[in-house]
Amino acid sequence: MGVGPGDPDLLTIAAVRAIETAQTVAYPVAREGGEGMAAAVAGAWIAPRQRRLPLLFPMVPEAGPRRLAWHAAADRLAAEVADGRAVVLLCEGDVSLFATGSYVLLALRDRHPALPVRLIPGVSAVAAAAAAGAWPLALQQEGLLIRPTPDEPAALEALLAQAAAGGWVLALLKLGGRWPWVRPLLAERGLLEGSLFAQRLGWPDQRLCPAAAVPAGEAPYFSLLLVRQGWPSVLP
Ligand SMILES: C[S@@+](CC[C@H](N)C(=O)[O-])C[C@H]1O[C@@H](n2cnc3c(N)ncnc32)[C@H](O)[C@@H]1O
Repeated sequence: MGVGPGDPDLLTIAAVRAIETAQTVAYPVAREGGEGMAAAVAGAWIAPRQRRLPLLFPMVPEAGPRRLAWHAAADRLAAEVADGRAVVLLCEGDVSLFATGSYVLLALRDRHPALPVRLIPGVSAVAAAAAAGAWPLALQQEGLLIRPTPDEPAALEALLAQAAAGGWVLALLKLGGRWPWVRPLLAERGLLEGSLFAQRLGWPDQRLCPAAAVPAGEAPYFSLLLVRQGWPSVLP
């Protein structure tokens, strides 16, 4: 289930009900002993009587350890159910958008095809950023492309050209370490003022402002950018 990007008020009623009725609450952690972002967001609804099940998903580029982690998570969840426990897996943001939940779902389908699974959507960071910044995401014939920030300046340049030609708004995730070169590239094209920078939405250190206000230093992993290069001609 998706728990939204940070603000516990953005959990859906369906998500809260599912947590309350679960015997086991599973959640991703990036390292052994870590708290986990999704567990922190939903913490207020996890009762001491409930079994907590951290599932380790190492954030590494290699395919092997990631596959092993997805398989292990699927097996752990299936084992909980086999032991008669209702289990929920918490997931940051929405459960289907660049989400651990999707990999676990695919692993479950493959390894435990008879296991009943229900997905509960959550508020994505993109939707939360647009709402918090009063920033219309897509209007009329505009497209909306949500994707990780490219690794190379040339790829971002090509993407911006494509988006301008197609009338797409861009939502660039995983901005983090790329911000030092993304910023000057956008500045050169006069795109900083109209772009919205959102960092750690829903957390006490949230930062939400025009991209022009953010210096070129490293941004945290939980940061994103909304970029619009033009507006439809018919507007109020
Ligand atoms: C693996 S994706 C997960 C997306 C998530 N499933 C969703 O629906 O929002 C992680 C990226 O989403 C963005 N993100 C997620 N939560 C965020 C938050 N609270 N504030 C800003 N960006 C966030 C960041 O760009 C981060 O690098």
